[in-house]
Amino acid sequence: MKERIESLVKEISEHAYDKSEDFKLMFLSKKGKIQTLFNEFRNVAPDQKKEIGQLLNGLKEKANACYNELLMKESVSSDTCLVDDMTRNVDNRNIGAIHPLTLVRREICDIFSKIGFTVEEGPEIEDDWHLFSALNFPPEHPARDMQDTFFVEKDIALRTHTSSVQIRCLENATVPVRKLFPGRVFRNEAISARAHCMFHQVEGLYVDKNVSFKDLKQVLLYFAEELFGPETKIRLRPSFFPFTEPSAEMDITCSICGGKGCNICKGSGWVEILGCGMVDPNVLANCNIDPNVYTGYAFGMGIERIAMLKYNVNDIRLYFENDVRFLSQFKNA
Ligand code: DAH
Repeated sequence: MKERIESLVKEISEHAYDKSEDFKLMFLSKKGKIQTLFNEFRNVAPDQKKEIGQLLNGLKEKANACYNELLMKESVSSDTCLVDDMTRNVDNRNIGAIHPLTLVRREICDIFSKIGFTVEEGPEIEDDWHLFSALNFPPEHPARDMQDTFFVEKDIALRTHTSSVQIRCLENATVPVRKLFPGRVFRNEAISARAHCMFHQVEGLYVDKNVSFKDLKQVLLYFAEELFGPETKIRLRPSFFPFTEPSAEMDITCSICGGKGCNICKGSGWVEILGCGMVDPNVLANCNIDPNVYTGYAFGMGIERIAMLKYNVNDIRLYFENDVRFLSQFKNA
């Protein structure tokens, strides 16, 4: 008896069976090997009953454990048994995708928040002061013209850039200020593959004592490398904006061709991604910040443009048509 029990223990541990049904039949059914031994138990000599009884119980426990294990394995590999499995991954075939402009806006904000920038928003309908005058636009500047700007009424317009939020922030701020202002902007432009009457920008502003152009350049290099990869190079070209002095436009090595020259960069290997500069002293003074004590830099970029470069999108209108064939391509982005 003892040897037969031991040989069954061995047989079970060797996992000779992989179907729970077969296993049950062989070991755990009424006519199975274990029940047969239990049936013979009454013939065991009284002085051995204790020892054999313990061995038999041990065998049965082991067989039950083995049977449960087989059942578990089978339920993992079969769908129908999984209906009640609360640990099962949800079926995510039909969840939507995050819009590419949201992806890029979040990425830009994340990159700058790592170096201490916080995010704030301002109104889309603005007055002349915040949109133009406080930003040092001269009275005859073409941006003040109906041709470029959607006016709601005299001196009230849909904002043409997020630079207006710089003024809203500085008017109420205690310096130092290190902020990002993402948002929608509107321009009276004919809609084409390259231009839209509504698009998105992110504005950056840092005002403190001793802020220099060197700081601006270093932060923009960090940003370009984070967003487009460590091999990305930047170059700053002199430019003009009323609210910065000096002003520059920043190019990055073309992320599509890696700087070799393609039709996106028009063969130059460089693409423009933002405008920037040192905050004009007049702007600081307009916000009651002493330009003799404080300096600052600012920059502004179009999200659509950056997303076009990042995802190789060749028509800005695709962002606003909400065609699922376009949007679903960003599921894993
Ligand atoms: N507001 C400018 C535009 O819409 C972009 C810009 C340029 C923002 C230079 C800035 C800056 O803050 O310093 O084209």
